[in-house]
Amino acid sequence: MADEPPFVVGVSGASGAPIALRVLDGLRAAEVPVALIVSDGAVAVLREECGVGPESLAERATHVYSDHDLGAPIASGSRPTRGMAIVPCSANTVAKVALGLGDTLLTRAAHVHLKERRPLVIVPRETPLPTILLRHLTSLSELGVVVLDAAPPYYLHPRSVDDLTSYLAGKVLDHLGVPHRLYRGWKEDAP
Ligand SMILES: Cc1cc2nc3c(=O)[nH]c(=O)nc-3n(C[C@H](O)[C@H](O)[C@H](O)COP(=O)(O)O)c2cc1C
Repeated sequence: MADEPPFVVGVSGASGAPIALRVLDGLRAAEVPVALIVSDGAVAVLREECGVGPESLAERATHVYSDHDLGAPIASGSRPTRGMAIVPCSANTVAKVALGLGDTLLTRAAHVHLKERRPLVIVPRETPLPTILLRHLTSLSELGVVVLDAAPPYYLHPRSVDDLTSYLAGKVLDHLGVPHRLYRGWKEDAP
């Protein structure tokens, strides 16, 4: 596993830190290597929403890079990866990625995934969605980015926020092509 290219997980400062923890748990259960980047904004939200520090994210990853380390291997397209998820993805990070800005490792790594045409999944969370954010999301979607908004699947009858968290994390893994048992799909037992 250590020699395989990693999945890159970027955690930014939108609401939804529990989803990031669940995605990392799912990747660890699948025994795939994970390179983790946590923005400064994400640290504040993680403390507010989960009452834990960034070490709780770090202990779930195989490699951890500072968001300020622009010389990290994953800042270059010459380092193979299997794809990237930004979960959750703040409006600030969406804007930077859509505009091609790479002044942090997280945004630089996203730029690398775009230029190398590798899978990129983002989980924005903002409500209501301002026009400027919709414009940026449209640009990214047109470039092939999977925009996976943190919307609840009422038709699956989630019983708790924990159920919703698992569903959203599972959708991220679906789009990275990683098998999981985080949620049961619509009529999963039907032929
Ligand atoms: C408790 C808390 C919740 C936040 N929720 C959101 C959110 O849901 N969506 C968002 O785009 N920004 C949210 N923010 C604001 C971002 O954290 C802020 O814009 C930050 O600069 C983002 O930096 P980053 O993109 O480098 O992580 C929140 C901030 C705090 C402290």
